Amino acid sequence: MKTHQIFCLFVILCHILTVTSTFRYIADENITISCGSSGISTADDERDWIGDIGSKFAPTEEPNHKSNTSGAEIQGTPNAVPYMTARLSNWQFTYVFPVTPGPKFVRLYFYSASYSGFERSKDFFTVKVGSFTLLANFSASILANSSDHSDISKEFCINVDKSQKLNLTFIPFSSNYYAFINGIEIVSMPEDLYYRPHSVANGEELVPVYVGQAPQFYINDSMALEMVYRLNVGGGSISPKEDTGMFRQWSDGTDYLLSEGVNPRLVSMTLNYLYIPNYTAPDAVYLSAISMGPNSTRNLISNLTWGLPVDTGFNYLVRLHFCEIDPNISIPGVRRFTIYIDYQQADEAADVVLWTDSNYRPYFKDYVVMIRNKGESMHLLSIDLNPIDSDLCDAILNGVEVFKLSDQYGNLAGPNMVPPPLDQEPALAANESKTKKAIFIAIGIGLGIIVVLTLVCCMVLCKLKKTRRFGCCHPLAKWWCRSRLDPYKREFSRRTASSLPGELCRYFRLDEIKTACNNFDEDLIIGVGGFGNVYKGLIEQGNMMVAIKRMKQESRQGVREFLTEIEMLSQLRHVHLVSLIGYCNDGGEMILVYEYMANGTLRHHLYDTLNDPLTWKQRLQICIGAARGLHYLHTCTKHPIIHRDVKTTNILLDEKWVSKVSDFGLSKMGLDNTAVSTLVKGTWGYLDPDYARRQQLTEKSDVYSFGVVMFEVLCARKALNLKLQEEQRNLASWAQKCIDKGTISQIIDPYLTNKIASECLKVYMELAESCVRDHGIERPTMNDVMEKLEFAFELQENAEVEATKDTDLEEVSLFRVATANGAPWLESTSGTDLSTISTGLSYPSLDFVTTISITSQD
Ligand SMILES: *[C@@H]1O[C@H](CO)[C@@H](O)[C@H](O)[C@H]1NC(C)=O
Ligand SMILES: *[C@@H]1O[C@H](CO)[C@@H](O)[C@H](O)[C@H]1NC(C)=O
Ligand SMILES: *[C@@H]1O[C@H](CO)[C@@H](O)[C@H](O)[C@H]1NC(C)=O
Ligand SMILES: *[C@@H]1O[C@H](CO)[C@@H](O)[C@H](O)[C@H]1NC(C)=O
Ligand SMILES: *[C@@H]1O[C@H](CO)[C@@H](O)[C@H](O)[C@H]1NC(C)=O
Ligand SMILES: *[C@@H]1O[C@H](CO)[C@@H](O)[C@H](O)[C@H]1NC(C)=O
Ligand SMILES: *[C@@H]1O[C@H](CO)[C@@H](O)[C@H](O)[C@H]1NC(C)=O
Ligand SMILES: *[C@@H]1O[C@H](CO)[C@@H](O)[C@H](O)[C@H]1NC(C)=O
Ligand SMILES: *[C@@H]1O[C@H](CO)[C@@H](O)[C@H](O)[C@H]1NC(C)=O
Ligand SMILES: *[C@@H]1O[C@H](CO)[C@@H](O)[C@H](O)[C@H]1NC(C)=O
Repeated sequence: MKTHQIFCLFVILCHILTVTSTFRYIADENITISCGSSGISTADDERDWIGDIGSKFAPTEEPNHKSNTSGAEIQGTPNAVPYMTARLSNWQFTYVFPVTPGPKFVRLYFYSASYSGFERSKDFFTVKVGSFTLLANFSASILANSSDHSDISKEFCINVDKSQKLNLTFIPFSSNYYAFINGIEIVSMPEDLYYRPHSVANGEELVPVYVGQAPQFYINDSMALEMVYRLNVGGGSISPKEDTGMFRQWSDGTDYLLSEGVNPRLVSMTLNYLYIPNYTAPDAVYLSAISMGPNSTRNLISNLTWGLPVDTGFNYLVRLHFCEIDPNISIPGVRRFTIYIDYQQADEAADVVLWTDSNYRPYFKDYVVMIRNKGESMHLLSIDLNPIDSDLCDAILNGVEVFKLSDQYGNLAGPNMVPPPLDQEPALAANESKTKKAIFIAIGIGLGIIVVLTLVCCMVLCKLKKTRRFGCCHPLAKWWCRSRLDPYKREFSRRTASSLPGELCRYFRLDEIKTACNNFDEDLIIGVGGFGNVYKGLIEQGNMMVAIKRMKQESRQGVREFLTEIEMLSQLRHVHLVSLIGYCNDGGEMILVYEYMANGTLRHHLYDTLNDPLTWKQRLQICIGAARGLHYLHTCTKHPIIHRDVKTTNILLDEKWVSKVSDFGLSKMGLDNTAVSTLVKGTWGYLDPDYARRQQLTEKSDVYSFGVVMFEVLCARKALNLKLQEEQRNLASWAQKCIDKGTISQIIDPYLTNKIASECLKVYMELAESCVRDHGIERPTMNDVMEKLEFAFELQENAEVEATKDTDLEEVSLFRVATANGAPWLESTSGTDLSTISTGLSYPSLDFVTTISITSQD
């Protein structure tokens, strides 16, 4: 099947799913308040929101301290209702909701903006319900700044006792600060949805397993829950309207899937809710799943892993949704797997059919796990499924919900922090699966996009000719300049639609795009990401190779935003930035066209790859190029452009090994706008700890990530590797430790042994170490980084010239292999001809590598 057929199938399927089955629970309470407005306004999803002005829901305030109301100009995608109006005050105010007893969802909607009379950044406040603290020292502007979304929503579950009212109080930090709220939603839920254990047919109760602790954990009425993740595994996001009557938002979970080569499945079947209530989750959650793929050998020695960043110091309820959707698996014992949560065994032998007696019967399992605060405020909560040797060595997961449980003080508030998505590799799973291709799943953001290049705004370069070094000397730029003069081509590139400046960025019609990539031929996919697929394509009558990035439906943004972003991107031109050739927004598509980068990502030349290793000088030059690109971003406009996601998969290499930074400025494109609205851009493992702590994004956050890249280049290992011992998982902190202990030589890429001049290594390591210093202020600027790297390159070059001279005189020194003491990798090659190991150059002083230590300056 071709991609478009699958796509149609998917659309039809979704249609069937939404039109038919999903059961809807009728909530007793279903209150939607649009704060700061009056009358009734209808949201995009056709729900009516009641204005609080003059209604029975108007808040109570302190005498003489009336709250204010204000409107906000909504930018981008969020729904106008309830985000466009707010209630604000420098003093405490309380909404009182007379509700029936029982558990309720309380959803809060914030839109961070400059409201008249209030300074945007002075919004520090606490939100309480009765005795629970939902948010403390909360600042929507901080979250908004770090996540690229001004709209923030939070969902809590609270149990209301008999004769109690639901009082929702907003308390500013002090009278110099203000509290605000745009929308409040209260929806009741069935008692056994999250609070009471549900009893299955045989009388057994589904009480959460307390992982690594007492056998069970009862969720008390006296606890409040905060929803942190709600993922539809293997399927796309599900809007509140499509939920089972409780208006829950289900997100696409691919950003958190860490395994590669997985097998997503989506089926259309009638489900049989025999063991769990039919309102537990929408059918679509159970009808899609991820499993591991056909290679049993591989499956047995690997885990299907998800990683979910969470605040530390709380218990978490982890609900895993299961449903066997393979028509061939209807008896127990076929698909069995062990479940680990947070690296602890939670279920020794999970067997979905054993639990449900048949396939197509939804089920869920609850686990509670304690995430202790060991000094770090963020923690990566992992879910690992490991197949047990049985008929089918595989595991399956359909959905995940994670809730934070209030502590003994009724507190749910963590620091003002937003979890970054994880680093993921492209996974072209379907190629592996024998069953003719399910649906390509996009894994990760960022990715191995092999993309890129330039042109477009070359016109500007041609005119300005100011960039002496790069400008029109670039062959592609020349090509572009020539093609601008060719009348046929000019006609060809004329925009047919849209409102973008055509001089800056070429407009492609959808049919041109389709011709270029053979109608989105699966075989032409060269990268897969959270945003969609990247295809290789040919334009200009087959004369020019390009990379075509097609946004998938869920990650598409508003057309206006898309065009604004393109306009910005097409103005950034630099030889070390991957630049845009054109775009297409015909037929509801959002497509970007980049020059094809022949050598792919830097990451794919470093490790877990069949590519030949890069020489040290190549690596230095790649780093220098990337540093130049970032330096340009930081300095090209009045306000620095912060990349926010510097990593080895965002550094691409052209056919001449020139490195170019990609994925800048795509701040909003890669993110699932409908997902938990507080995703930060950045990647776990590369993320500046100072940024996480202080929420202030500066150029130094890119410098930190670049330092991690430098270590990755030197050591040829992942920035974050969950398979290693805790101490070694994070490359930046492990490398720093090794530098302190003087054992860094043990983690340097074995291929580089004897190939780095000691002076060069010293400069390089000092530089990398200074980039990853804890505090931004102690880190160098990108300009410093660039200069130091160039210096390191010179040192290397000089040393190589020297070494060549030496060897002319005395060939013996070529084979002087430093080590055996500190380089375990050499042991495996002992016995082989040494000359095959050190084909490169050897430095007499290299022994120093094993003893080098760098003292940090503080
Ligand atoms: C859902 O379950 C309720 C009772 O548990 C039942 O009355 C209702 O018919 C079910 N609805 C569907 C669509 O299965
Ligand atoms: C919620 O309230 C709206 C009115 O605002 C009503 O149209 C809708 O049917 C209600 N939904 C549920 C599930 O109770
Ligand atoms: C808020 O409203 C009060 C009157 O209700 C007014 O005196 C005050 O100036 C307003 N504050 C702001 C910041 O607009
Ligand atoms: C958020 O960003 C804006 C401009 O980018 C800045 O003026 C503001 O101070 C930032 N707010 C916070 C709380 O950092
Ligand atoms: C509130 O949060 C800000 C920013 O995260 C932090 O600087 C400040 O110390 C916090 N205040 C309290 C009282 O926790
Ligand atoms: C809620 O607020 C009302 C009115 O302000 C007050 O009478 C009531 O005691 C409060 N209830 C709780 C549980 O705090
Ligand atoms: C609340 O939970 C604790 C332990 O989690 C338990 O000991 C206690 O009995 C529970 N209280 C109620 C009212 O269920
Ligand atoms: C299955 O995986 C194993 C271990 O990773 C690998 O050695 C083998 O080549 C794979 N088999 C196939 C058919 O891909
Ligand atoms: C089920 O088994 C049959 C026969 O073994 C096979 O042809 C078919 O492809 C299988 N279906 C799936 C979905 O694996
Ligand atoms: C699977 O995950 C568990 C728990 O995190 C871990 O102990 C185990 O080593 C992992 N297995 C593999 C093959 O990675």
